[in-house]
Amino acid sequence: MSAPLVVLVGPMGVGKSTVGQLLAERLGVGFRDTDEDIVAEQGRSIADIFVDEGESAFRALEKRSVHTALAEHDGILALGGGAILDEETRALLGGHRVVYLSMDVEEAVKRTGLNVARPLLAVNPRRQWRELMEARRHLYEEVATAVVATDGRSPEEVGQAALDALELKEA
Ligand code: S3P
Repeated sequence: MSAPLVVLVGPMGVGKSTVGQLLAERLGVGFRDTDEDIVAEQGRSIADIFVDEGESAFRALEKRSVHTALAEHDGILALGGGAILDEETRALLGGHRVVYLSMDVEEAVKRTGLNVARPLLAVNPRRQWRELMEARRHLYEEVATAVVATDGRSPEEVGQAALDALELKEA
């Protein structure tokens, strides 16, 4: 049983995958993304899973892949934006180094605006974003050991800020 070096949480579009890959390169470790694990295992997109089976079925798949990845992966692990909705997942994250990548609503709309691959933001992204964050902000904060704001920062700058916050040295 191993543990990820760093777990990245935060809303969709905040850059968990991009920053995660950068961090993995800089630290000389592997990168894993639970959304990608689900797509690979199911052989279809996240949007298709939502449409075919609904959100709660997706959440069950997500919970399983997050728990598996937390037990198996020893590099950088990015979680889907809604993974922290699950109470057991939040409890499990208690033993890990978790970085919450945050952004404000304007940055979110800029980055995710009309992205149809994100079923939760397909209609009226600004309002949906606000509602999502009202429901989730405290959960991201609850699991985080460090919070890194991404607004107006490049992925490299965000990665550096995360390394600084965690006091991690490069390989
Ligand atoms: C979701 C975020 C997405 C994906 C799904 C649901 C959410 O992941 O898991 O569309 O509930 O916030 P990303 O955060 O990687 O986009």
